[in-house]
Amino acid sequence: MIICGSVREIRETSRAVRREGRKIALVPTMGYLHEGHVSLVRKANNRADFVVVSIFVNPTQFGPEEDFDRYPRDFERDRVICEEARVDALFCPQVEEIYPRGYSTFVEIEGRIVDTLCGARRPGHFRGVATVVSKLFLAVEPDIAVFGQKDAQQCAVIKKMTRDLDFPVEIVVSPIVREKDGLAMSSRNKYLDPGERQAAPLIKKGLDLASKAFGGGERSPAKLKQAALAEIGRSALLKPDYLEIVDCGTLEPLETLSGKRPALLAAAVFCGKTRLIDNIILGAQNGN
Ligand code: PAJ
Repeated sequence: MIICGSVREIRETSRAVRREGRKIALVPTMGYLHEGHVSLVRKANNRADFVVVSIFVNPTQFGPEEDFDRYPRDFERDRVICEEARVDALFCPQVEEIYPRGYSTFVEIEGRIVDTLCGARRPGHFRGVATVVSKLFLAVEPDIAVFGQKDAQQCAVIKKMTRDLDFPVEIVVSPIVREKDGLAMSSRNKYLDPGERQAAPLIKKGLDLASKAFGGGERSPAKLKQAALAEIGRSALLKPDYLEIVDCGTLEPLETLSGKRPALLAAAVFCGKTRLIDNIILGAQNGN
């Protein structure tokens, strides 16, 4: 596995691979890798000949009161996981490599797609994500990039940005990987104390109840949301930040559900001080 710390190195590596006619996949991450990340690498390996994983805790996507400083980091552990997952190259730049002194160029997406859900509660978050992902695309020049459905709004934003800026990159979305009890895997699960960890699976239980009601014919978004919120409300440790039913692609709120266009039930819930996100596609075969 090649380890690169600079844009120049990863670009040279990637261009040499392309010259051999090999297809390149990028899996962007912030490290502290878990099975969810590994599933993206697996998908990347199935779809391409050369897999690049980036590990970069991106400061521009964290708000001033957020957890940039304490975000978990363990490069040695991540390196071993990548080695075992047959990653070909790791791109792990320092902050100054991506944002040198005086850096001032950002990619900003406008409209509903960023003004709702997490975008509405985390001002500047998707500007930071779009900026770093653009820089990663330009550094690695991948044929495909793999993202997780866990961050459904991030997937929608990246797809939109890729279309709008004509990045020659295919965006591949991979299903949510969960713990046995249903909790969506996340690097931030590390913050949960035992009591919070025990309460957290209620989020998925709530989403499942709504999905079941949808399967049984319920088409009122208000009633479906109510079903999910009632379940999540069973623990006093859980405080919903939002719970919305939106169009999967545009993220427009849906007042009625036809069952024809896929609808996304997305939630952000504070579990103690930790904000967890999860979602489910209503009517999908494998609800995820
Ligand atoms: P991070 O939270 O490390 O996630 C990296 C990728 O792994 C994202 O595409 C995310 O959706 C996916 N992922 C996380 N948990 C998952 C799970 N349980 N199942 C499936 N996929 C999962 O998302 C980011 O980093 C950053 O915003 C980034 C895109 C790297 C830009 O900085």
